Amino acid sequence: MLLECRGISVIYSKKICALANVSLNVQTKEIVAFIGANGAGKSTFLRTISGILKVAKGEILFEGKPIQHSPAYKIAALGIAHVPEGRRVFSRLTVLENLEMGSYMNGKEIARKLEKVYALFPLLKERTSQMAGTLSGGEQQMLAIARALMSEPKLLMLDEPSMGLAPILVEKIFSAIQEINAQGTTILMVEQNAHQALQFAHRAYVLETGSVVLEGTGSDLLHNAQVREAYLGAA
Ligand SMILES: Nc1ncnc2c1ncn2[C@@H]1O[C@H](COP(=O)(O)OP(=O)(O)OP(=O)(O)O)[C@@H](O)[C@H]1O
Ligand SMILES: [Mg+2]
Repeated sequence: MLLECRGISVIYSKKICALANVSLNVQTKEIVAFIGANGAGKSTFLRTISGILKVAKGEILFEGKPIQHSPAYKIAALGIAHVPEGRRVFSRLTVLENLEMGSYMNGKEIARKLEKVYALFPLLKERTSQMAGTLSGGEQQMLAIARALMSEPKLLMLDEPSMGLAPILVEKIFSAIQEINAQGTTILMVEQNAHQALQFAHRAYVLETGSVVLEGTGSDLLHNAQVREAYLGAA
C-alpha cells in the first residue's frame, strides 16, 4: 500500500467540518479518482495529505509510515507531489525556470528529467524561454504537471487537471496522465469530469459533504445508478 488514510477528519472552524472520517487507500501503480460536487471537500483532502492542512483526527500512512504530523516540505521530500487547483505556475518565470524549480529538492540529473518531461509534453520543449504567464490555460496545466514530475514523485496528486480546458486539451491531459502512470507513477486525482475520470481510473471514491459515500472500480461506478444520476447527467 502506498497511501493509506484512516478516518481523517479536518475542521476549518467550529461550524465547518470539511472532512469527516474519510478512509481511502491507494496502491502502488494505481490511478485513483476522487469525485464529488463543488464544496464536497476534495481539495481539502489533497491539501491535508500534502501537509498544508492539519488533521483533527485520523492517520495518514505513506509507505506504512505516519505523515499526518509532518510539515509539507518533508512530505514532498518523501515523494508526494501536488498539482493544486487552478494550475499555479510561476507566471513571471520562463517555462524552463518553472521546471527547474520543480527539482529544487534534488538538483541532480536535471537534463535527464527535462528530457523525460519534454517527451511527455513536446510543446514545452518548444517554449522553454517563454514566460509561463503567457502560455494558454492548457499549456499552463501541462507545465504544472511537468513541474511536479521534475521531483520524480512516487505519488502524483492532481486537483482538477481538466478544469476549464477545451475538449481536445482535456484528451491530451488525460492521455499524458495515463502515460505518466504507465511509466510507473501512482496517481490520485480529483475530477469534476466524472465521466472521463471513471473511464480510466482503476478505482474511485465518491465524496459528499466531507464523507466517502461510495467506492469501487472505475467501471463499477460508471454503471452505478446513484453515480449516473448525480454525476453523469443520466438517470
Ligand atoms: N480556508 C477555508 N476556510 C474555511 N472553510 C473552507 C476553507 N477552504 C474550504 N472551505 C470549505 O470547506 C468545504 C470543502 O471545500 P473544498 O475546497 O475542499 O471542496 P472541493 O470539493 O474541492 O470543491 P470544488 O469542486 O469547488 O473545488 C467547503 O464548504 C468550503 O467552503
Ligand atoms: Mg476543489
